[in-house]
Amino acid sequence: MAFFTIWGRISENRPPGSFLWYNVCMIRLDKYLSNMNIASRSKVKEILKGGRVRVNSKVETKGDVKVDPEVDVIEFDGVRIFYEQYRYFMLYKPQGCVSATKDRLSDTVLDILKDENTDGLFPVGRLDKDTEGLLIITNDGKTAHELLSPAKHVDKKYLVHLDKLIDDAAIAQIEAGIDIGDDKPCLPCEIEKIEDDKVFITIREGRFHQVKRMFAAVGITVTFLKRISMGAVLLDESLKPGEYRRLTDEEVQSLKK
Ligand code: URA
Repeated sequence: MAFFTIWGRISENRPPGSFLWYNVCMIRLDKYLSNMNIASRSKVKEILKGGRVRVNSKVETKGDVKVDPEVDVIEFDGVRIFYEQYRYFMLYKPQGCVSATKDRLSDTVLDILKDENTDGLFPVGRLDKDTEGLLIITNDGKTAHELLSPAKHVDKKYLVHLDKLIDDAAIAQIEAGIDIGDDKPCLPCEIEKIEDDKVFITIREGRFHQVKRMFAAVGITVTFLKRISMGAVLLDESLKPGEYRRLTDEEVQSLKK
């Protein structure tokens, strides 16, 4: 009977050979609801028991029922929920937390998103523990991979405070593509002087401690580093360190260009 039920729904909605589709695309109803931020997994149980969720117009109380986000109509308190496979956040990473999903000793950037369902989320690249600023968090591996790909040369702009004054010769040396001891020198970059010991720098790579090492190569120590933008996404000035918001649709589209 179960076989016919499953086959029935697949054959109505999907092309032949759809057992694979069933495995890949079906998701537990409780997971679906928590992914869509209706509530945490434990609260979702109560919500389901309370008869507040309908699947294809029928009240569904069981969390382990599988649904197809692209086909099934799921309503919560009478309002349809549209499935969002990928989620994107802009986080103002504060100093002192690590750009990782887990750490035994320090807070991670995912701890800041503790009110969200963090399943599958990860930071796009890394900022050093003492660096602050824009970090994109997502569960979209393909877009993240492309943003980080050396071949894509996505611009990353930083505000940099220096321990001493920087002269035009040092700026020209860094801008031309400075050797920081790797196999190849850095790609050319742009520096915009704000004050004698404060600059913006825009780089197109993401090497380990890159900005700090670029200035170290001309004998200058970076005392403060803040990422201002990545591609067309600018750190929202209304965010304070440790705050985050969802990316807008325009920002998400800009990441995929
Ligand atoms: N360059 C650095 O040196 N550190 C960062 O966190 C980012 C870029």
